[in-house]
Amino acid sequence: MSSTTPQDVLSTEKMNLRAALIERIGGYMTAHAIGVAADLALADLIGTGSRTSDELAAETRTHEPSLRRLLRTLVAVGVAAEPEPGRFTLTDIGSQLRSDSPDSLRNFARMFCHPIFLTSWSSLHHSVTTGERAFDHVYGSGIYDWLAQHGETSALFNEAMSEESRISAGQLAAAYDFPATGTVVDLGGGDGTLLTAILGARPGLRGIVFDSPSGVAEAPATLSKAGLADRCEVRAGDFFQSVPGGGDLYIIKSVFQDWGDGEARAILRTCRAHMPASATLLIVGTVLPETADTSAPVAFFTDINMMVMTGGRERTESEFRAMLEETGFTVRSVGHGQAGPLSVIQAVPATAA
Ligand SMILES: C[S@@+](CC[C@H](N)C(=O)[O-])C[C@H]1O[C@@H](n2cnc3c(N)ncnc32)[C@H](O)[C@@H]1O
Repeated sequence: MSSTTPQDVLSTEKMNLRAALIERIGGYMTAHAIGVAADLALADLIGTGSRTSDELAAETRTHEPSLRRLLRTLVAVGVAAEPEPGRFTLTDIGSQLRSDSPDSLRNFARMFCHPIFLTSWSSLHHSVTTGERAFDHVYGSGIYDWLAQHGETSALFNEAMSEESRISAGQLAAAYDFPATGTVVDLGGGDGTLLTAILGARPGLRGIVFDSPSGVAEAPATLSKAGLADRCEVRAGDFFQSVPGGGDLYIIKSVFQDWGDGEARAILRTCRAHMPASATLLIVGTVLPETADTSAPVAFFTDINMMVMTGGRERTESEFRAMLEETGFTVRSVGHGQAGPLSVIQAVPATAA
């Protein structure tokens, strides 16, 4: 005898809502599946052609029946396709996991699905309960101190940042009217990807990449490869202590979200103290909508990712304005979405306003 009651038979609408929630609950499974695909370089092996799961298992030295199940899951989330049973191709989304793609996100996927991220995120509950950084709770230090002691992961982190930066740098170089001459200082400039795009577009400009010693480790190679070593200096330092003086334009991209308000203000005060009164500061990063909505889900994810990983946060335009005004700057303009998904805030020292 069936024990189903009329209340248990859900309407199609209810079933769809149920499926929508279940799919979201499975988000972490999607991330794990893409992370393993990136680690195994499956997209490089499939390339523009098609490969069977037998071939892929042999080349990756994996267990074929399990690999095939992983590949089918990648099909289910739109990363791969299975045109005939057991044979796999990449979709346009999945092609971005190829290392040779100019807009590759392979290292980005490997980093964000790396155990330091996944383990920290498994302590999200701790962050929400205490307000503390999950990363520090798990690893016993801040992420940048930890990366300074773990060269291989630090290199992967810098590569992941540069995969994101390469695209937004191109968009910023095209969208912002950079001066033809002078010196651009990129604070927290990592491996120099952003300055490479800017100096490439403006042959009369000079640059300084400024970051921590581990942050700038790959910058000399990036600049030499782009033929820019003679126009761009690499300087290691700490932006809480000082930043290079004498620049005309100071860029600080994807940095403030790493820090809480006290630290973010401290970085701005260091900039204010060292940059000439005639210089301009460009903050490039996410600007959150004043109230949450579904228009920019990645921005809200990066916000909570910062809560877990660095103790930082994303900010709204009014929060940025308040922070800049308190630290001696005047906001000249806010270009929402001027660099792809990122916005550009232009500020000048208040005395120059
Ligand atoms: C999220 S990454 C952004 C890198 C780069 N601007 C980009 O958009 O790809 C933040 C950068 O801040 C650097 N950083 C962290 N602490 C720093 C410090 N005290 N002084 C200088 N740079 C620092 C990190 O090494 C890292 O390169």
